[in-house]
Amino acid sequence: MTPPAEASRKDLIAALDIGSTKVTCVIAQGEGAEGMRVLGVGTYRSSGLRHGVVVDMDATEAAVGSAVDAAEQMAGTRIERVILGVSGAQIRAHRLNAEVSVAGHAIQAADVVRVIDSASAALREAEDKAGVDSVPIHRIPVGFAVDGGAGVKDPTGMFGETLSVDILLATAAPGPVRNLETAIQRCHLGIESLVVTAYASGLACLVDDERDLGVTVIDMGGGTTSVAVFVEGYVVHVGVLPIGGQHVTNDIARGLSTPVASAERLKTLYGHAMHAPSADRELLDVPLIGEDEEGQTNQVPRSMLTQIIRPRLEETFELVRDHLETAGLFSAAGRRVVLTGGASQLNGAREVAAEILQRQVRLGRPLGLKGMPDAAAGPGFAACAGLLRYGMMGVPFDRGLDRFRKPFANPDAGANRAPRATSRLGRLGQWFKQNF
Ligand SMILES: Nc1ncnc2c1ncn2[C@@H]1O[C@H](COP(=O)(O)OP(=O)(O)OP(=O)(O)O)[C@@H](O)[C@H]1O
Ligand SMILES: [Mg+2]
Repeated sequence: MTPPAEASRKDLIAALDIGSTKVTCVIAQGEGAEGMRVLGVGTYRSSGLRHGVVVDMDATEAAVGSAVDAAEQMAGTRIERVILGVSGAQIRAHRLNAEVSVAGHAIQAADVVRVIDSASAALREAEDKAGVDSVPIHRIPVGFAVDGGAGVKDPTGMFGETLSVDILLATAAPGPVRNLETAIQRCHLGIESLVVTAYASGLACLVDDERDLGVTVIDMGGGTTSVAVFVEGYVVHVGVLPIGGQHVTNDIARGLSTPVASAERLKTLYGHAMHAPSADRELLDVPLIGEDEEGQTNQVPRSMLTQIIRPRLEETFELVRDHLETAGLFSAAGRRVVLTGGASQLNGAREVAAEILQRQVRLGRPLGLKGMPDAAAGPGFAACAGLLRYGMMGVPFDRGLDRFRKPFANPDAGANRAPRATSRLGRLGQWFKQNF
């Protein structure tokens, strides 16, 4: 591993994923064109969130502080800003088309920024009219057209009268974003970018062919299940559902009258979403609520766990299917699904997803990160790995989004969200190369 003391702080990227069950911070250093080496990882149990939304500021702050401290100690360096994953903040995806005049001159990077800015302004205006307030998170161009000729991947250098863009704008609810930002500011950290976690998980786990042919990433967390759809190489939709692995655990606790901790243990050790005849004969010792460790236990057949787990998983994937259908994407989203997130490790989750969604389903793991400890290389850490990848590739149009954000009542909030020194325009060409 590169000695941390030699790591130039400029090259360091730090990702922070504040999940409903764990907070993880990963510090990495860029290596070559697209490579990254992990220098430090810290993960800490999270108890201050529900469905990805902060409900206890002190607990969230404490968990963030502990995870960041541990990552900093391991990396031997301190960080100032993080790329932050958001999953529970009422994420909404908007597909818009905007057009600007380019009056016959060669289209420049500034024109591309102008048409994308005009899409953001149009959304702001529509939301103002509808009395909706939101915080912009992503602006990802899905395709350009010059004089109506669609299918243009990079319009810079082309001539025409009008430039239009088909774009994905993702927004979040202001309150939950502000609470996340406050927890982070209390830890003396700034936010470099906000990134929807399912999008990040896709960046970490998908191979190019999947992104080109069409794939849906389903990140199954503790309190949320988030989705991102990739078609023809780029992300076209993101969304979050307030259901996750904790629901399965709670169902087991309720169904077997056992403490939540024992339900969690039963789920991860013996849980299976698919029926197996042998599971009727296998008996499990289940501690009863209110009994001490040595106290009374119940013996239940293992198949009973399946009877509890399966309906909840079916419901989860039915909600995902409904969500995609409402977004008009269920048919367009390709034949493949990749499951990530800690809860995707539940035995049989892949099979239930395949049955309900009628897709080819595989489990995803973060790819291409050097130096990631084994304990943090599983699907529960996909989002964090993707946040690092997002930081490496830089989505130029996501920078400076504060211009489209209404100030919070306290104008200092979010002040740390300064763009990195690298200029937005300078990164544009690089982004086109990487994304189309
Ligand atoms: N081996 C396993 N089998 C089944 N479930 C598991 C396993 N390991 C972890 N889980 C479940 O994964 C969930 C946590 O997943 P993850 O760490 O991705 O969530 P999170 O990022 O903290 O939460 P969220 O993204 O919803 O805010 C928990 O509900 C846990 O029970
Ligand atoms: Mg998560």
